[in-house]
Amino acid sequence: MTMATKTAARSRSSTQRKSDRGRTRGKPGGSARQQDVIALIKADHSTVNQLFRRYQGLGDRAVRSRRQIADRLVKELSIHAAVEEQVLYPNARAAIPKGDKLVKEAISEHQTLKEALMSLEKSRPDSDKFDPLMMKIRDEVRHHVKEEENPNGILGQLRKHASRDELVKMAKLTRAAKKAAPTRPHPKAPATPPGNLVVGAAAAMVDKVRDKATRRK
Ligand SMILES: [Fe+2]
Repeated sequence: MTMATKTAARSRSSTQRKSDRGRTRGKPGGSARQQDVIALIKADHSTVNQLFRRYQGLGDRAVRSRRQIADRLVKELSIHAAVEEQVLYPNARAAIPKGDKLVKEAISEHQTLKEALMSLEKSRPDSDKFDPLMMKIRDEVRHHVKEEENPNGILGQLRKHASRDELVKMAKLTRAAKKAAPTRPHPKAPATPPGNLVVGAAAAMVDKVRDKATRRK
């Protein structure tokens, strides 16, 4: 083997080792099937942020569109909060040092959010309180995203303390949980296992019947 070939081989194997480390330490990327839970939760955050941007681009008279975007936000955020509580947070509690404290804070913020979402569901899009309520929810969600995606937050810490395999498994569980999650806020329902799994499944069925009856998408 020539010197250049040896150097190229060494460089390739070093790149390969780095890439292997990336896979085991939970770097993002890969196919949807191999998507890790961090990428999945961040994608949810970005969907919701786009909806807030769309809402803010609407004129005062776009009452129907305001209602539609608000309904979609209620649905996306209800599902997001439920699957975080069912999959992400129990795993974060187990994997992260001080995970318990981070999760307690997140659950308390979810509670405030669910109450605000419930008020939004009941408000008329042409009422004076609709806009301030949407802005309050937007600010709460911004805070939630900032906290969770922070290097010292739940996602940042999971990246540090969980393996790539664990993060991919959590993504699979999260995708499955999304299919059976409540689509409306239930602030009085338990937010931790096992209560949230039992009550959440029942609430999800009721929500889906209501979604169908009200033709909500
Ligand atoms: Fe989140």
